[in-house]
Amino acid sequence: MEAKVTLNTSFNTGQIDSRIFSGFLEHLGRSIYGGVYDPGNDLSNEDGIRTDVAEDMAGMNMPCVRYPGGNFVSNYDWRDGVGSERKPFPDFAWKTTEPNTFGTDEFMKWCKLVGTEPMMAVNLGTLGPAEAAALVEYCNLDTDTRWAQARRDNGSDKPHSVKMWCLGNEMDGPWQAGHMPAEQYALKARNAARLMRGLDPSIELIAAGSSGRHMATYLEWDRTVLETCWDDIEFISAHRYSTNAASNTPEFLAEGVVIDSILNDYAGLTAYVKGVKKSSHNVYVSFDEWNVWYKERGGVTQDGQWETGPALIEEVYNLEDALVCAQYMNSFIRRADLVKVACLAQLVNVIAAVLTRPDGTLKQSIYYPFALYSKNATGTSLTPVIDCPTYDAGERGEVNFIDASASFDEHTGDVSLFLVNRSVDQDVRVILDFSDRNVIGAGAVQVMTGEDPKLANTWEQPENVVPSTGFSSLENGVLTIDVPKLGMAVASGITTE
Ligand code: AHR
Repeated sequence: MEAKVTLNTSFNTGQIDSRIFSGFLEHLGRSIYGGVYDPGNDLSNEDGIRTDVAEDMAGMNMPCVRYPGGNFVSNYDWRDGVGSERKPFPDFAWKTTEPNTFGTDEFMKWCKLVGTEPMMAVNLGTLGPAEAAALVEYCNLDTDTRWAQARRDNGSDKPHSVKMWCLGNEMDGPWQAGHMPAEQYALKARNAARLMRGLDPSIELIAAGSSGRHMATYLEWDRTVLETCWDDIEFISAHRYSTNAASNTPEFLAEGVVIDSILNDYAGLTAYVKGVKKSSHNVYVSFDEWNVWYKERGGVTQDGQWETGPALIEEVYNLEDALVCAQYMNSFIRRADLVKVACLAQLVNVIAAVLTRPDGTLKQSIYYPFALYSKNATGTSLTPVIDCPTYDAGERGEVNFIDASASFDEHTGDVSLFLVNRSVDQDVRVILDFSDRNVIGAGAVQVMTGEDPKLANTWEQPENVVPSTGFSSLENGVLTIDVPKLGMAVASGITTE
């Protein structure tokens, strides 16, 4: 099969914000305890941080990592996780015993080691604006005041300088500690935003949007929050976990259609509120939880039985999941004008890119597209016009076999193309038609593919689903890239003039 992708540098959605390649780490299951933090393990450093895990995380090239939750944050008192007096507490969200031995300061050390920036969520469930502001004081102020002094006493002389702050998590969900109606949350979030920014005007704030399109209050919740908080926030959050519970690969591989429609919803909603308010301020989308998650969900998979670091929701990721993850990133890149932050949920053991054992790590299939995209999608997002055959994807309609995004570095003239082939049985040769530039160098292509959509990496066979070198050719100025069936290709370093 053949497809044509047309690019023109004038047809773009602006600068790609590197923060769309951020991650998420929650106190959940073996994510922290037995995951990133494992004192006494030979692979851990003097702070108890697993260095092999940190190395894998560094390979993902994440500008920010969101922490400490998720549902966990809505009944978490950050003051229990700092200083020398650390007492365990029962975590409401996942029914585990939280030992509090890893807290804010440990997370800051971890971020430094990994080479990423912290993105902190505050508890607006069972705590409120005052405690949130105290955490901003603890992290960001250099004053001679109680919490800034406490940070110094706890060993961090310099402020942690946390820029991004989430105002609670999924407060629209009845499962959330402190769940409340939209009007109530909006007022609480606005009060918290004002107190927090009053202490540090340089911070950026993310209001908790709807926890998903499945919610009855989807968009109505967000509208209320935006109307109340518009001038006090920079972002509204969006969350989605994709499912192939029906085991219908062609339909699952059309997931990008749904991701695009969610982004369209938020583009419309933010434009509407901005228009109603006649505002010159913009509020962007922080898609701060996204992934595939359906195999290990509900019931016992989410009940920690009051253990510390139990194995919860340890989803095994396969090839088709990785191809859906690539489509999330294509959608975020294409909507560079709207999506400025996005966090893969999650990173370690729990619905994770990396699994751990006491003696090592295993990179799951979804690790690889993330690392390829985060390293190569820089510069301006070019809007690809795709001309290719389509297929019937059930409720998702007639869908292109090829999903694509592209980035362009104005300084070097280099282009990267990110391509997913949704066909389960046909390779696609993509012809690049660059209408306002000449392609002078083919660059390199990495592909990921396999015969079986359910193929996953295992401890015994860790390289079942990994990238390999792909094929492209440049003849008479025409670049073609082969995208294997059930596969993706990242063509980088394409040089143009
Ligand atoms: O990422 C797992 C959970 O999914 C998070 O804690 C919550 O925010 C979402 O429902």
